[in-house]
Amino acid sequence: MAQLLSGTAVSAKVLERIAEETRTLPVQPTLAVIIVGDDPASRVYVNNKKKACAKAGFRSLEYALPAEAGQAALLGRIAALNADPSVHGILCQMPLPKSFGYDEQEVAQAISPEKDVDAFHPVNVGHIMLGEPLFQPCTPAGVLELLDDAGISLAGKHVAVVGRSNIVGKPMALLALHRHATVTVCHSRTADLAAVTRQADVLIVAVGRANFITADMIRDGAVVVDVGMNRLDSGKLCGDVDFAAAQAKASWITPVPGGVGPMTIAMLMRNTLTAAKASCGILGMK
Ligand code: GUN
Repeated sequence: MAQLLSGTAVSAKVLERIAEETRTLPVQPTLAVIIVGDDPASRVYVNNKKKACAKAGFRSLEYALPAEAGQAALLGRIAALNADPSVHGILCQMPLPKSFGYDEQEVAQAISPEKDVDAFHPVNVGHIMLGEPLFQPCTPAGVLELLDDAGISLAGKHVAVVGRSNIVGKPMALLALHRHATVTVCHSRTADLAAVTRQADVLIVAVGRANFITADMIRDGAVVVDVGMNRLDSGKLCGDVDFAAAQAKASWITPVPGGVGPMTIAMLMRNTLTAAKASCGILGMK
């Protein structure tokens, strides 16, 4: 029976450490969050980010734009926040509405790299690739923090990442590589996916499909990290892994909810702290 990797517990510890350090700073770290439209899931995520700011002792600012505001208004808001020295971190909650001509890539490039606490700007993506980023990609960094807390090392292990998105799969593979893992990135065109996942010492799944990973795809004693967050018709939240069956085979497993989700937000807070420290010269900008 697998042991649980509790993001709820580990993220609380991380936030406490951040709050402690915040009390020693000459500035109050400030995160500006932009939300466009009224997607209920985005609203939940933004509220959770604001709650985490409060726990960390940060100031949080929210800018809610109606869906019909349009790309130019959104870029105008970002430009104002880029120019405001009291704002250390800026994030625009994704996805943007499908209508009214929004362009997520243009938004990612509009946020000043020094305030880009999501680490979505191409400059920051480049630093992640090179291995010495100022800002960590939040979800992959949260996964590593969970593994570190449990004393699980990736060096020399076979890590299989299922999913190749720009915000999870690709940066996750790079971070695991920097930790000296042998990494396989799998995706929808991977032939015989189960044959690959069965070889993984550490299986990290981010595909966005409930029960996508079944017990037969998991090696005995593997570490299973489920980044998925799917809402079933019943309203229940579940990950990409058939949790009940996987728990019997894995040595460690993340629950959903209460696994990677809270770690992502804790890493966002860590990046905001880093941005605030860099803004007052406590930390050298890379
Ligand atoms: N939507 C889903 N995940 C994320 C994230 O990490 N950051 C932002 N800004 N939007 C998201």
